[in-house]
Amino acid sequence: LSTTEVDLTGIAVGQAITVTWQGKPVFIRHRTEAEIAAAQAVDPTTLRDPQSDAERVQQPAWLVAVGICTHLGCIPLGQKAGDPRGEFDGWFCPCHGSHYDTAGRARKGPAPLNLAIPPYAFLDDARIRIG
Ligand code: FES
Repeated sequence: LSTTEVDLTGIAVGQAITVTWQGKPVFIRHRTEAEIAAAQAVDPTTLRDPQSDAERVQQPAWLVAVGICTHLGCIPLGQKAGDPRGEFDGWFCPCHGSHYDTAGRARKGPAPLNLAIPPYAFLDDARIRIG
């Protein structure tokens, strides 16, 4: 399938799911107020891949990002309860130690770029279509 529809209703604040789109893992995280605030507080000019939080989300509560480390393609940890999320409370790639923040931006370690944002659209308040 070239598109994937996702029902968001069952994803509580602070929870995340992984779906598959075109054979790739896509992370969807229902961000907490603290996670949103942390992402918005970063000055993008200080980043290796400068992007504001607003450039990476359509609705602040929802981060949708391709779950493939931009270093060498491992799947970062941080989706499941109890996973290490790294120093910036987003995702941690155990392969070579890349840290991503709550907007999926590369903050530390060898990853050169932020997690990719797939094309997606909100169909209504509770559903998105990826692709
Ligand atoms: Fe993620 Fe190398 S593949 S840090």
